[in-house]
Amino acid sequence: MKQARVHVSLGPRSYDVLIGENLADQVRAFVAGAGAAYLVSDSNVGPLYADAFSAAHTLSVSAGESSKSAAELQRLYDAVFATGDLDRRAVIIALGGGVVGDLAGYLAATLLRGIRYVQVPTSLLAMVDSSVGGKTAINHAAGKNLIGAFHQPAAVFCDVALLATLPEREYVSALAEVVKTAMVGDAALLDRIETGAAALLARDPETLAEVIHACISFKARIVAADELETSGQRAILNFGHTLGHALEAIYPGRYLHGEAVAIGICAALKLSEARSGLDAAVTARVIALLGRFGLPVQPPQDLDWAAALAYMAADKKRQGSVVAFVVTPEVGRAETLPCKLDDSLVRDLKHA
Ligand SMILES: NC(=O)c1ccc[n+]([C@@H]2O[C@H](COP(=O)([O-])OP(=O)(O)OC[C@H]3O[C@@H](n4cnc5c(N)ncnc54)[C@H](O)[C@@H]3O)[C@@H](O)[C@H]2O)c1
Repeated sequence: MKQARVHVSLGPRSYDVLIGENLADQVRAFVAGAGAAYLVSDSNVGPLYADAFSAAHTLSVSAGESSKSAAELQRLYDAVFATGDLDRRAVIIALGGGVVGDLAGYLAATLLRGIRYVQVPTSLLAMVDSSVGGKTAINHAAGKNLIGAFHQPAAVFCDVALLATLPEREYVSALAEVVKTAMVGDAALLDRIETGAAALLARDPETLAEVIHACISFKARIVAADELETSGQRAILNFGHTLGHALEAIYPGRYLHGEAVAIGICAALKLSEARSGLDAAVTARVIALLGRFGLPVQPPQDLDWAAALAYMAADKKRQGSVVAFVVTPEVGRAETLPCKLDDSLVRDLKHA
């Protein structure tokens, strides 16, 4: 496979994302000559892939969201200091899904006030989204990602060969984020996902590399324009997430993130039809595509919409008494629309 490169342009914090197959040698070459390399991985990914990177030190956390915790971070600090090898030239290799990327990224952001790290995403979600952009975080009892820092990686290596072992449900769930990217910023990508749907489901490496390249190119543009999420441009990445987050909160453990986002996307499309002129044919097209991937496209019959609105009202991205919903007037274009949390919003989210 031909390798592709996306440059994330952030002045002195700029970096490249390499997309290809079997990139461990290139990761090793990138970190060679620096200080000690600390590879952070989880209990699923580490045993499969850590050896290929021959890092000086390998640290492991339990797989799963609960590892994005202060306790786990403390354990990592202890392990790093115990090596006696840490200095400012040290580099962290985050090998894993978004959990490892966020946790190891925050470790790198805080050790010695910030050392370099590289992302080696192993889940599709991490490849198309979380490994690029420099958002690092751990969770707190008060909420997800409440403690964190913007700390850009020094490089990202997207090795599509690593996706072969990703559990099916995790893989399919991330396809919702791919569809999201197409809807908010890349009409050609939506065509490509449709024509390549069967190849994507079969995890064809060439198709994956192409689609991941499109997603990263889009995210790189957004991040370059709004690195710290201050100008509002980065907010369009939340398409489908407003209801998605509410569903994850109301039904803990029922949905993977991408599954909740898939339902959220369908609702946001209906809202877009009702309030920003989206063609109904697009809604039907995207719902069919998500359905083809086996993703849920309807909220549960018994959803308590009042509880969903209450959750949205408490969401940290709220501004005043309205929620800024991301809507798509057409494929590939998104904007935020302030919406009052009332019955008419529920009606429009359920059906245009
Ligand atoms: N920083 C950001 O910009 C950003 C963006 C989106 C999401 N996130 C965060 O990402 C996290 C979710 O990421 P995720 O979906 O990758 O979850 P994850 O890291 O928990 O990975 C999902 C599961 O797949 C396993 N896995 C990963 N790669 C594998 C592989 N190649 N082979 C076998 N098993 C593999 C993991 O061990 C885990 O059990 C959340 O914590 C979320 O907050 C961050």
